[in-house]
Amino acid sequence: MGVIHVILSRDMETPNNNQRGFWTSRLGFILAASGSAIGLGNVWKFPYITGQNGGGAFVLVYLVCILIVGLPIMLAEFTLGRRTNLNPVGAFRELSPKTPWVVIGFMGVLAGFLILSFYAVVGGWTLAYIVKSFSSAAVHFKSPQEAGEFFGQFIAEPEEVTFYHAVFLVMCVGIVIKGVHGGIEKACDILMPTLAAILLLLMVRSLTLEGAMEGVVFYLKPDFSKITPHVVLVALGQAFFSLSLGMGAMLTYGSYLPPEENLTSATVYVVIFDTLVALLMGMVIFPAVFAMGLEPAEGPSLVFSVLPTVFSSMPFGAVASFIFFVLLAIAALTSGISLLEVVVAYFIDQRGWTRKKAVLVMGGVIFLLGVPSGLSFGVLADFKPGGMTFFDHVDNLASNYLLPAGGMLTAIYVGFVWGPEAAQAEIERHETTFHWARAWAFLIRYVTPVAVLFVFLARIF
Ligand code: TRP
Repeated sequence: MGVIHVILSRDMETPNNNQRGFWTSRLGFILAASGSAIGLGNVWKFPYITGQNGGGAFVLVYLVCILIVGLPIMLAEFTLGRRTNLNPVGAFRELSPKTPWVVIGFMGVLAGFLILSFYAVVGGWTLAYIVKSFSSAAVHFKSPQEAGEFFGQFIAEPEEVTFYHAVFLVMCVGIVIKGVHGGIEKACDILMPTLAAILLLLMVRSLTLEGAMEGVVFYLKPDFSKITPHVVLVALGQAFFSLSLGMGAMLTYGSYLPPEENLTSATVYVVIFDTLVALLMGMVIFPAVFAMGLEPAEGPSLVFSVLPTVFSSMPFGAVASFIFFVLLAIAALTSGISLLEVVVAYFIDQRGWTRKKAVLVMGGVIFLLGVPSGLSFGVLADFKPGGMTFFDHVDNLASNYLLPAGGMLTAIYVGFVWGPEAAQAEIERHETTFHWARAWAFLIRYVTPVAVLFVFLARIF
């Protein structure tokens, strides 16, 4: 009996490879990982926090954070994933059985749940704006105030918001249920080049507006007096979120890699693509904002209220608006599927569920969890335990606590427990010498955890 029990329970723990899946091409993997990284964080958040934090100087600090914190952690996550071919929980359990390190994995799966629940709400807003610009409802504004009011009214609508929230999740579920290759990889193969094309088109439109140069100067000319400790913290947090680090999303994507994949070059590509999209997005937004004589420090509503005003006052504005929100929706969708995939991979690997069951059940649970977040700008706006809405609480718990903690612990784990040598051996399994091994070991051991701790503490106090 005992033996049978052990065999059965071990069976449950081993990956069900049929249900797991794998990438079929190197490019497919790079596009999918870039799809995860490139999201609302790049298109919506990066421009508005750049606007709030002084433009060029912030961009410079952000680039440094990407280089010394983002890049090393991404390589660590890919390496852990390919070494174990498992989800975040399974990965730590396999490398360090019966130790508390598995907590990093559980925190990651939990963060996936939480982030997707509110990310899908914002994803739903972008879908709604596609429809609204198509019907021209969202492109008839005289001032950003007017556009802001329209936006505020829309996000307070319970039925409409919940409807689009559901549509966004159904799209994620529809892609992830088809599996890693048939769903995620195929979708990203089409969606990512589309996104790049739309982005370039919009940039040309923006840069040719009269008065665009002023925006370019604000964006590219660093004013070093604007670099404060707060600016550094915001930049570091943004680097994390934008690169999808700290919750095992990149670990999970790495787990679908064949052993011959070159991990260092894949990391460099994904980091470059993600950064390029953020930087180009600034080139779309700031020239337009300045050309229209608007404020760059508008804040979170920059995309939803300032841009529709810009579109309203330009030729073919409805088309530009439609195209822009399609871009935003694509970016959100390819990130949403990576969040869902982390949760799904856990239930497939560790619980022995089929992919179909995992996707449908978890998609439903995440939808329900997201409903109060969606209502947080309308009927639940005054429900503020601890001074924050439900949406803010979920966002705060995941983005400000679970992600930084997960990233820091991952760096410490790889730097001191699993060890840079073991990681290097995995990286070099099929590729030529990892030339940056010593620099990477130094960063992952000393620079990355300290930097993240810094962000983490500054958020608490
Ligand atoms: N990186 C995405 C963005 O920029 C969001 C995202 C997707 C994410 N998966 C993640 C953030 C995992 C942190 C962890 O919008």
